[in-house]
Amino acid sequence: MANVTYQKDILKDKVAVVTGGTSNGGLGTATAFHLAELGAKVYTLGLKADETTIPNVLDVEAIEMDVTDEEKIEKFFSDLTQLDILFNGAGVNMPDQYKYDTYKKVMDINANSAFHISNLARPLLAKSDIASIINVSSMYAIFGSDMAPAYSASKGAIGQITKSLAIEYADEGIRVNAVAPGWIDTPLMDSLPEGQAETIIERTPMKRLGKPEEVGQAVAFFCTPAASFVTGAILPIDGAYSLF
Ligand SMILES: NC(=O)c1ccc[n+]([C@@H]2O[C@H](COP(=O)([O-])OP(=O)(O)OC[C@H]3O[C@@H](n4cnc5c(N)ncnc54)[C@H](O)[C@@H]3O)[C@@H](O)[C@H]2O)c1
Repeated sequence: MANVTYQKDILKDKVAVVTGGTSNGGLGTATAFHLAELGAKVYTLGLKADETTIPNVLDVEAIEMDVTDEEKIEKFFSDLTQLDILFNGAGVNMPDQYKYDTYKKVMDINANSAFHISNLARPLLAKSDIASIINVSSMYAIFGSDMAPAYSASKGAIGQITKSLAIEYADEGIRVNAVAPGWIDTPLMDSLPEGQAETIIERTPMKRLGKPEEVGQAVAFFCTPAASFVTGAILPIDGAYSLF
């Protein structure tokens, strides 16, 4: 559970959907929990939803959902009656991204689904007085990576989707922003080769990994009145890793 920076009930009576919010220790899950701590009802959509450990004081419902299953995702949004916050956090990084099938799969999960889901969420968000979409980019959007070309392309696409939708949705009062986490200590880090975490920490000016709840706190900022004129922004959360 995060330290709470904001007024505890600031998201009372608000509804949030968090994709990629089903991984114990993941940053989507930490974000979901933080939005719930601030009073929101939160639906987390992702894989292995039945394994998510949800603190029983929070109003969080984990739903098994593949974000690339268009029919199922369209049904979910057509059944929903209120939406104030959408966090597009579902994401994967996988081996063999020079295989075209793998490339397309990563693009579908990380970027194309965020575009599709944002459009499905638009009509309900347009009725909210705090409507906010938060996407998840990455420092790979800045650097690119020979080891992860699809992941890098998907995170670059997220940046441009964020900016494009921020302009398109502005008239309807829907703000669209992104976070660009650096190296955050989540299960995704388990796939790193041995010793790489130490190398990353040494290269990070703040000399540590980020914590999932530090992403959740930044996402909460975008959902509060403190960010009421902030849209189209991409916020690095990386201890200054991306500055050089
Ligand atoms: N951990 C980091 O250092 C870091 C850095 C930058 C960006 N990110 C991004 O943050 C997001 C969350 O990553 P994490 O570190 O919490 O990883 P994680 O592996 O802990 O969580 C990933 C989440 O995405 C879900 N998911 C994967 N494929 C899906 C699919 N097809 N349909 C629905 N859900 C799916 C999983 O079920 C899980 O809930 C991802 O977009 C990732 O790219 C992470």
